[in-house]
Amino acid sequence: MDDITKRITDIHERIKTALDISKTERELEQARLNFLTRNAGLAQLLAQLKEFSAEQKRIIGPLLNNVRDQVFSLYEERKKQIQNERHAREQKRSELFDVTAYQPGVSYGSLHPYTIVGQKIEDVFTSMGYTIADGPELEDEWHNFDALNVPAHHPARDMQDTLWLTLPQKLMRTHTSNVQIRVMQERKPPLAVISSGRAYRYEATDATHDYMFMQTEALLVAENISVANLLATIKVLLQAIFDRSDLNIRVRPSYFPFVEPGMEVDMQCVFCTDGCSVCKYTKFIEMAGVGMVHPNVLTACGLDPKKYNGFAFGFGLTRLVMLRYGINDIRLLSSGNLEFLTQF
Ligand code: FA5
Repeated sequence: MDDITKRITDIHERIKTALDISKTERELEQARLNFLTRNAGLAQLLAQLKEFSAEQKRIIGPLLNNVRDQVFSLYEERKKQIQNERHAREQKRSELFDVTAYQPGVSYGSLHPYTIVGQKIEDVFTSMGYTIADGPELEDEWHNFDALNVPAHHPARDMQDTLWLTLPQKLMRTHTSNVQIRVMQERKPPLAVISSGRAYRYEATDATHDYMFMQTEALLVAENISVANLLATIKVLLQAIFDRSDLNIRVRPSYFPFVEPGMEVDMQCVFCTDGCSVCKYTKFIEMAGVGMVHPNVLTACGLDPKKYNGFAFGFGLTRLVMLRYGINDIRLLSSGNLEFLTQF
């Protein structure tokens, strides 16, 4: 009898110690498995009860039940305590966590120069009331050429070398001027839109030519638009991009089938005053093809050329980016070279 009460006291002490020294949920679980499950110490003692006489059971039974209740409530208490301690630690850690803290070894992204200059262009145009339009890069012959007054077999088609697809009459657009057509077909004047995107040409690549490059197109169609509106707009744009209010432009006659008259705009060289290698010692840099929208183009889009007129211009966004940042090889821009790209 004394022996069994001593074993009960012993196991009670051992369980209390095991629960007390458990510091984590895992250690507590181990203590539970060691002492409090069906096959563990305390349950084995309870199972032995049947070997005792009724009188002995009257003493040992309540004693064992009492110990069992105590250790189970101690277990629950300890469990809650350990969980609370863990929550407090986590809470403290999250309070001290600084999302802005510098972490060595983490590389941060940067905007591609196309994005930086593209956003600037959009800012300038939207401030003048223009909206941003978009058009497909995989285009059909009609939107890329015919509607732009470049009929099939006309020598003007050879001005742009085309990447034709195996799909009938489908091509990779050779310029962003296809967006002009799509916008004029979809909306009624007054129209003021710009669109930047990729253009593709079947061309050998070198430092200033790629088979894929970026252009920006602008289109304004309303009533009584003049060449003066066109030149003023382009001047405002270039002055904003190069951050120079004294930047001058000059205009030369040129030919694009979709505008009449057609011109090319040169910008005063931003790198020199007396001539340098960038401007090929001419003091001016060629920037954009521009002109008044050809009446045939308006007609192709269902607009009355007697009522409406407008201007369009398209420039190499790639060229603008290269000039803006002094990039000397166009191929770097689509190379995915991080050493180059993270400079911006
Ligand atoms: C055109 O593409 C006309 N659609 C522009 C236009 C629009 C004129 C509206 C009038 C009215 P052009 O083929 O010249 O024009 O190309 C315009 C610009 O795209 C060029 O000045 C040049 O900066 C750029 N460009 C042309 N081909 C390449 C190329 N292979 N690599 C990089 N840039 C190019």
